[in-house]
Amino acid sequence: MPLGPGMTVVSGPNGAGKTNLLEIAYLACTGRSFRHVPDRELVRRGAEAGHVTGDVTGTPDADGAGAPAHRFGVGVSARVDERRRTSVDGQPVERLLDHPARPLLSVFLPDRMVLVKGGPALRRAHLDQLVVALRPSGGDVRGRFLEALRQRNALLGALRDRPGRDASSIAHRLDPWDRSLAIAAAELTRARAGAVERIAGAVAGRAGQLGLEGRLELDYRARTSTDPDEVLAALRDRHAGDVERGFTHQGPHRDELAVRRDGRLLSRFGSQGEQRIALLAIVLGETDAVEEAVGRRPIVLLDDVMSELDRRRRERLVDAVRGSGQALVSVTEADHVPGAEDPDVGRVDVLPGRAAATRVAGRA
Ligand SMILES: Nc1ncnc2c1ncn2[C@@H]1O[C@H](COP(=O)(O)OP(=O)(O)O)[C@@H](O)[C@H]1O
Ligand SMILES: [Mg+2]
Repeated sequence: MPLGPGMTVVSGPNGAGKTNLLEIAYLACTGRSFRHVPDRELVRRGAEAGHVTGDVTGTPDADGAGAPAHRFGVGVSARVDERRRTSVDGQPVERLLDHPARPLLSVFLPDRMVLVKGGPALRRAHLDQLVVALRPSGGDVRGRFLEALRQRNALLGALRDRPGRDASSIAHRLDPWDRSLAIAAAELTRARAGAVERIAGAVAGRAGQLGLEGRLELDYRARTSTDPDEVLAALRDRHAGDVERGFTHQGPHRDELAVRRDGRLLSRFGSQGEQRIALLAIVLGETDAVEEAVGRRPIVLLDDVMSELDRRRRERLVDAVRGSGQALVSVTEADHVPGAEDPDVGRVDVLPGRAAATRVAGRA
């Protein structure tokens, strides 16, 4: 199914398969499920396996010369003992995410409202994904930190379970883990602060464009220093408490990223509609920042996005999405999208129980 270069509206009644269609696009580009479900749930009920392919046509440059096209393939099996198989241009690859030509994606799902409303762990995980998206060459900063934390916690647990050591012997045992954790923690804190700084302006701008009143602010509350020596000193200060608990009490795993509007927490003082607008502003602002950082604009996937938005906000959202790259926007009624009939807007009508019937505008 070819998609136009701008916005494509995916419409159909509840249960028709709109989210499914967006997930197929995501799966084909990343080799992953955006709902983080096991493979057997991705395979059609009753079938043993499923396969999706995504064809990527390079964006033509100023001379009209296209970048090389690629075909991304993902095979999933309903059997628990079978791994996902990914390929590029027919050649098996270990990870699609590492392929330089794979499309980048920015996603809004109704479930992701927990990013604004829910606890800090989700925001930390999201922020850490953004860190990688903004600086792919930096590698897995979060993974390095979590591994160092896991190792130190394992030792703390063992020390707690076998008490009786004196402070200097504890300090001696912990020293190598303190050092590796201090480096990883300072690195992660620096990367997170840098990422928030990079997106803050774009997110505030998008929030204004989407009609959120007041200024949307992302406030990263780091409890950790960005200087490894300071982190090391702080870890050493807390040996006794950490051993008593059996885990590392302080660090980037406890940080909070607060989403505020004019200084007030949006999770507490925002309406449903305002929270939704805020999350959309974050998704679009991050898309802008990633485009600026890596020179390619992520494809925007917005699932079931118009519910809970009034007419004015729908218009503003469509204005924001149109004219800035490729986007797939799913809605129950196409007329929830002002301008859906315009010739530059692609349309996919998803009919229950059938393959998507498509009417696609623009260049594929
Ligand atoms: N593995 C599966 N095999 C077959 N049908 C499925 C599977 N998973 C979900 N469904 C069904 O697919 C339908 C479409 O779901 P979905 O894409 O969420 O619809 P929409 O987003 O249009 O409301 C639902 O009725 C759901 O029960
Ligand atoms: Mg849906």
